[in-house]
Amino acid sequence: MRLLVTGGLGFIGSNFIRHLLGARREVRITNLDLRTYAGNPASLADLARDRRYRWVRGDVADPRVVDRCMAGVDAVVHLAAETHVDRSILDAAAFLRTNVVGTQVLLDAALRRKVGRFVHVSTDEVYGSVARGFSREGDRLEPNSPYAASKAAADLLVRSYVRTHGLPAVVTRASNNFGPCQYPEKAVPLMITNWIDGEPFPLYGDGLNVRDWLFVLDHARALELILLRGRVGEIYNVGGTHAATNRGLVELVRRMMRVPPELVRRVPDRPGHDRRYALDCGKLKSLGFRHAYGFAEALRLTVEWYRSHESWWRPLKRAGGYRRYYRRQYAGRLRAGASP
Ligand code: TYD
Repeated sequence: MRLLVTGGLGFIGSNFIRHLLGARREVRITNLDLRTYAGNPASLADLARDRRYRWVRGDVADPRVVDRCMAGVDAVVHLAAETHVDRSILDAAAFLRTNVVGTQVLLDAALRRKVGRFVHVSTDEVYGSVARGFSREGDRLEPNSPYAASKAAADLLVRSYVRTHGLPAVVTRASNNFGPCQYPEKAVPLMITNWIDGEPFPLYGDGLNVRDWLFVLDHARALELILLRGRVGEIYNVGGTHAATNRGLVELVRRMMRVPPELVRRVPDRPGHDRRYALDCGKLKSLGFRHAYGFAEALRLTVEWYRSHESWWRPLKRAGGYRRYYRRQYAGRLRAGASP
């Protein structure tokens, strides 16, 4: 199978590519990735000699490079996206360009090239905050952040290409991922790497927001299954194994890393911060999916990975762009914050 993966230098993309090449000998992968701040070639450095894999540097919103990459492709797994909610609050423009226009460009090219399957990777954030119960695939979309709105727009575009043009596409909506190779602006790698350095982790608001944590390697397995067996036109929720408040998660990691409570610093909340996400994953289970990793085991693996891969994340945190972002995002808040 010839596969085009977009965003394969990112966190989920790089884990997915390594998983698929390991699981299936017959797969050939072209990774179309612009290498933005969140894309890191070091995440796939071990594949340099694997002739089944190649990276093309390019923008999913650029029709020429997309069309070239789409030639002869059997299936597309579309992961390229701007994903950080906090950045979408600071500036939404890149989110619309990559997540919405990029998806449209890919869909058009997939139609033209008669691609056999298009997997669009999305997020539980499109459902918005759910006070109780679990979001199902047919529920209303009520995105609350510019990031979530851009993903919801892309999901609807995919739906329209299935209905209007008969494009053989499926949509997946995953909960919060964690694991190796996640850029250290997201909560889990931020707390682990800050704590390795004895720096505080900024906990937003009262810390009672609930997220459902999915280990990235389980996500990769779910994407493989949906790629092979998902039904065209369907949406599949991909949830995790551990729903927790941010406070609960922070306590788990803090104890695991033996860090003093003073290194959790309450800071003013994120605007529009969704209180709770929760997914009903019955459809995915009926395809035969079972998680392979327990939560505690996956979290331990993740902490260990960051401890043993400082050469992967230190250059990212040292880079000027990260430091500017971090100062803008947290400096005032950390000064105003207090330990819980
Ligand atoms: P994040 O990893 O940014 O994912 P998302 O916002 O897409 O769910 O954040 C996970 C949770 O952690 C979310 O409720 C926001 C919270 N959070 C903090 O409390 N402090 C932080 O510095 C960050 C980045 C997130």
